[in-house]
Amino acid sequence: MPDTAKAQQLAQSHEAVERDPDAYWLKQAERLDWIRLPEKANESSFEKADFGISWFADGELNVSANCIDRHLATRGDQTAIIFEGDEPGEGRTLTYRELHEEVCRFANVLKAEGCKKGTRVTLYMPMIPEAAIAMLACARIGAVHSVVFGGFSPDSLADRITDCESTILITADGGRRGGKRIPLKENADKALAKCPDVQSVIVVRRTGDDVAMTDERDVWWHERRGEVGAECEPERMNAEDPLFILYTSGSTGKPKGVLHTTGGYLLWVTYTFDTLFGADADDVFWCTADVGWVTGHSYVVYGPLANGAKTVMFDGVPNYPDPGRFWETSQRLGVTIFYTAPTAIRALMREGDEWVTRHDRSQLRLLGTVGEPINPEAWNWYANVVGEGRCPVVDTWWQTETGGAMIAPVPGVVDTKPGSATKPLPGVMPQLVDAEGAVLEGATSGNLVIAQSWPGQMRSVYGDHERFFQTYFSTYAGKYFTGDGCRRDEDGYYWITGRVDDVINVSGHRMGTAEVESALVAHEDVAEAAVVGMPHDIKGQGIYAFVTLKAGVADSEELRQQLKTWVRGEIGPIATPDALQFAPGLPKTRSGKIMRRILRKIAENDTDSLGDTSTLADPGVVDDLVAGRVSGS
Ligand code: WT7
Repeated sequence: MPDTAKAQQLAQSHEAVERDPDAYWLKQAERLDWIRLPEKANESSFEKADFGISWFADGELNVSANCIDRHLATRGDQTAIIFEGDEPGEGRTLTYRELHEEVCRFANVLKAEGCKKGTRVTLYMPMIPEAAIAMLACARIGAVHSVVFGGFSPDSLADRITDCESTILITADGGRRGGKRIPLKENADKALAKCPDVQSVIVVRRTGDDVAMTDERDVWWHERRGEVGAECEPERMNAEDPLFILYTSGSTGKPKGVLHTTGGYLLWVTYTFDTLFGADADDVFWCTADVGWVTGHSYVVYGPLANGAKTVMFDGVPNYPDPGRFWETSQRLGVTIFYTAPTAIRALMREGDEWVTRHDRSQLRLLGTVGEPINPEAWNWYANVVGEGRCPVVDTWWQTETGGAMIAPVPGVVDTKPGSATKPLPGVMPQLVDAEGAVLEGATSGNLVIAQSWPGQMRSVYGDHERFFQTYFSTYAGKYFTGDGCRRDEDGYYWITGRVDDVINVSGHRMGTAEVESALVAHEDVAEAAVVGMPHDIKGQGIYAFVTLKAGVADSEELRQQLKTWVRGEIGPIATPDALQFAPGLPKTRSGKIMRRILRKIAENDTDSLGDTSTLADPGVVDDLVAGRVSGS
């Protein structure tokens, strides 16, 4: 049943933001506590001549004060963070007042380590409260955090530390996921061997494992915590001062540092969290994402805390100790709003309904998904088995670059259709364009662009503003290109069809084909590699690699496994190829360009429609490739 008051409110918001966007956003900005209220709103341009993204440029505020201090008077003793460890029931909670003290202390330790406004601090952490505490401590003193997912390899960590010139690293002795130990400190030490500029490492004790500590460089958080004061004044920050850098994969080159700033980002996550989830004091909000991804930044930490909600931090996996974990834990913690990824839903769906139905889900009232297109079958299972047909499903389309949700159904107002993220939130202007950039109207398919800036938009690629422009604003002049293909139906609903560039979405995580290829060719036996996406029942997309070996190297099952393990070691487990085919030759045009279209068709096992192969230098290689197709793991 649509809620008429809410429907009216949403219609009014759409109308207001279209009529006078600046007035609308200045009004929305009142959701935040400003040290100096902004009078300026959108001053962005997507055009080459005066390119730049800027919002609320004369405003001043502090993100940590907005997420903590302003709640102390009204809800200081309310729970802020509910930590649930890898073992069911292993955890603790922090009230807003406790969070305040921890963040102040951490900020003071950072200061003592020489951290200042603008210093880049890399985090390589498990999903423990100290991860959020460290992020908020950075925000408190104006340091810029860069969280690197704990599943990334030492090399990936080193690259990210080097790219943003971090001088401080925050890590833990180890992590524990699904009963297995993750050697965070050992990995950090390997990475730091390549990062001489890191002067200080703050180590949080999580597992209690005996790890090596380097004198003068490494300090234990639990030792330093008591040596500093429990108060730290929040730094006065300009709305456009950097808040964080988060690395994400693109279609070319190394991962880029997506830069978000203070005012616009915080407003966007505050606004979208409230609009889509509307958590109040009785709610317990659980977003299952890791803080190593943008979803963890926006909807585990900043969005919920800015709204004064109770947020769950989960350091485990969906199937440990059994596939009922999400629902057992939801019941035990009293979770009312649950937000996860389609890949987890599909994996759990396979295990059967019994794992769900044996746990009481009567407290759940809202379900969300994010990260990749959700197939209608998984959507229906989520809505009807998990949600008992009672909970709206909020499918949120967005990206690391957008800061927060962009296209999603406001629950109770926008009718859902399984598999569609539905309609844009107020202030979001999506368009579908053809290959030449012509805007397509009505029911149609095309490339998804956003025609106007919104407050949560990324501001730059760290250290390479030109790359920012080239990557996102040069394909279709004057528009932000998302990299996604999309269909719009006769009701104006958006159906994201997936990436149209060389980015693979593996279990909701972005992987650039170029990154996997460069990891493969770094192996001594590999001459050339081409990587494409393949359909995968659980992951959405899997990684399919075509590998040409150096002359004289014989292929073997052993080498196939070795190469998969190699990529895993170079980048991290999420980059492990699902299928690896030895290919004596790759399909190249006469000018030497690999025709990926053909490789994609082979990976998809759609070899009846390979299209025109006459422009290939050697059309014969195609038959060999088709004959040599392998199936994924
Ligand atoms: C890409 C962005 C947004 C945080 C997690 C991923 C895909 C994301 C959806 C959705 C269809 C989706 C897109 C997008 N994507 N959400 N609800 N429906 N596709 O962030 O790593 O920056 O990836 O994820 O392809 O471009 P990301």
